[in-house]
Amino acid sequence: MHRNGDDLKGDATKRILVTGGAGFLGSHLCERLLGEGHDVLCVDNFYTGSKENVANLMGNPRFELLRHDVTFPLYVEVDEIYNLACPASPIHYQFDPVQTTKTSVHGAINMLGLAKRIKAKILQASTSEVYGDPKVHPQTEDYWGHVNPIGIRGCYDEGKRCAETLFFDYYRQHKLRIKVARIFNTYGPRMHSNDGRVVSNFVVQALKGEPITVYGTGSQTRSFCYVDDLIDALTRLMETGDDFTGPVNLGSARAFTILELARKIIALTGSRSSIVNEPLPSDDPIQRQPDLTLARKALDWAPTTALDEGLKRTIAYFEGKVATGGRA
Ligand SMILES: NC(=O)c1ccc[n+]([C@@H]2O[C@H](COP(=O)([O-])OP(=O)(O)OC[C@H]3O[C@@H](n4cnc5c(N)ncnc54)[C@H](O)[C@@H]3O)[C@@H](O)[C@H]2O)c1
Repeated sequence: MHRNGDDLKGDATKRILVTGGAGFLGSHLCERLLGEGHDVLCVDNFYTGSKENVANLMGNPRFELLRHDVTFPLYVEVDEIYNLACPASPIHYQFDPVQTTKTSVHGAINMLGLAKRIKAKILQASTSEVYGDPKVHPQTEDYWGHVNPIGIRGCYDEGKRCAETLFFDYYRQHKLRIKVARIFNTYGPRMHSNDGRVVSNFVVQALKGEPITVYGTGSQTRSFCYVDDLIDALTRLMETGDDFTGPVNLGSARAFTILELARKIIALTGSRSSIVNEPLPSDDPIQRQPDLTLARKALDWAPTTALDEGLKRTIAYFEGKVATGGRA
């Protein structure tokens, strides 16, 4: 990405690389950054993302889309890097677990190497999964977690943990400007419909009038953050001073049981779906909830979208998908 004439006049336009930019969070991030007037290079291998997710951005002259796998080196010139590339749902990350670890670890090495070479600021999309099945509630950033390294979630959890290690070693060893976000459950339009993530699963099942599958008794709790709030937090994190690295928890602290969520979605869609219970998958955490004190203090941020409001917007998106027989 090269600066154009306007940029040389010294305006605030930045050249920003978003890896995983054609995915759920990435596509919203690209949209936000373009809206702020930046040049955005979206890099994605379309493993779980799609061109459709960024189709609305294609006409924007400040937007570029590059098919590339982050496990291979990339040479571009940018000012900031948001590293989001990685399948995020258990169905997708367990499909090819070796590739998942490679994406997290080799992807981090390649992006950190790039950031070092071009002196870019770099943000890592880490995850609440680094806390594993936590023994401390709510989770603060200084909790080291409780992860099974040899379980079926290990490829994702340990891959993300190793990526955090790499970020902090590049920070200590090479003085890189790093930011690490530990993202908790986020939902909204452009989530995958059939990847086992609970909100999209329930919404699609409700819209199709199919039974809603609740794993276990449904008494396990989750907190859900609406995508617009999360993107707001990521951009605020990138803007923090160089002395702030994170890790910082980002998500919603308001906990709902899975059963409450299912009932809410049935009510909002007006569906006649029933609720059926199935056995809990291996290593599924019973409870996870962020302590957001640091995010509030360092980013002056807290999620503001009520669950009902976010669900309505998500349902509207999936209604369109179900009606047109799209990826839903
Ligand atoms: N959505 C959430 O609730 C959540 C929670 C915690 C962390 N995260 C993290 O945020 C990031 C984005 O998650 P998402 O929900 O948008 O998932 P997603 O699957 O929709 O997006 C991931 C994107 O990365 C791309 N990708 C995967 N492997 C790649 C590779 N090797 N090279 C290039 N691109 C590759 C995919 O094609 C996809 O577009 C992930 O790193 C995920 O771990 C998300």
